[in-house]
Amino acid sequence: GDEVVMRASALARSNIALVKYWGKRDATLNLPAAGSISMTLDGLETRTTVEFGPWERDSVFINDEALEGKGLAKISKFLDLVRPGTLCADVRSTNSFPTAAGLASSASGFAALALAASQAAGLELTPQELSVLARRGSGSAARSIVGGFAIWHEGQKSDGTDSFAEELVPAEHWDLRCVVLVTRKGPKDVPSTEGMNHTMETSPFYAEWLNTVRRDMDGAKEAVFEKDFVRLAEISEGSCLAMHASAMAARPAVIYWNARTLELIHEVRRLRVQGKACFFTIDAGPHVKVFTTAEDLDGVKAYFQDHPSVEDLLVAKPGQGAELL
Ligand code: PMV
Repeated sequence: GDEVVMRASALARSNIALVKYWGKRDATLNLPAAGSISMTLDGLETRTTVEFGPWERDSVFINDEALEGKGLAKISKFLDLVRPGTLCADVRSTNSFPTAAGLASSASGFAALALAASQAAGLELTPQELSVLARRGSGSAARSIVGGFAIWHEGQKSDGTDSFAEELVPAEHWDLRCVVLVTRKGPKDVPSTEGMNHTMETSPFYAEWLNTVRRDMDGAKEAVFEKDFVRLAEISEGSCLAMHASAMAARPAVIYWNARTLELIHEVRRLRVQGKACFFTIDAGPHVKVFTTAEDLDGVKAYFQDHPSVEDLLVAKPGQGAELL
């Protein structure tokens, strides 16, 4: 018949920031206090199917497990942005990487959800509008709409329409590798939103952190354009450490690292002195992400593979942006 099927599936990949996002100027719209730059990660994927129908409530399954409570409420609120009339959604999402390892899946998750839900609702969004929509779910998800290396613009407007991510260069531009070193699971991390709000409100270093971002954006952009590994390493490690320093100086402190995190920071620095191209970055958790070149990947992998501070090791190259399935 001519029954309209309101269903769509999408795939999006995670991303890691090289210049970090840490702080919102608008918490409702997820508008960032400054811009950020990232690499989209091949292989760290979320696949999501959304169907709208005349049901009584939204249902969401992540890796076959039903989401309830706050998690479900957050998705429902996000779906309200695209929901056709009073229809409810059935959402099925799977991650290709171990969710249990504590690797952030919100970037790939909300990017895939934004694309699948808007398509299922019959909306034809431009890539910029899609990035703005994904941003509403999770800030970093704005960057996972884009492939390769992405820049998320701070934007000027209060309605958020100019705060979206764009591709700086495609994945093929630079064959970097990101080696994710999973450290032992500790107590549950402070969620990024909570950590950044608290840093903004109480850290004496927050204003200085923002100044580093404004200085680092142009340099990181140039380093990516020119494939200048040494320069990107300097800027990226600096941005990561400045972000964590601002969080650590919050009162009470927000400390994402465990002992292994610090041990691995030193190991990366040792490996670099030995001549391997490598630098580290760390997000709102204890894991260490090591960037290296395709050339030095084997050496870096061999160094960390059986390291006592490494529970699990994943390798990703630059990935493509979000796509419909
Ligand atoms: O997207 P959110 O709200 O989970 O924030 C991400 C924050 C960091 O991962 C620490 C930094 C970043 O730019 O991705």
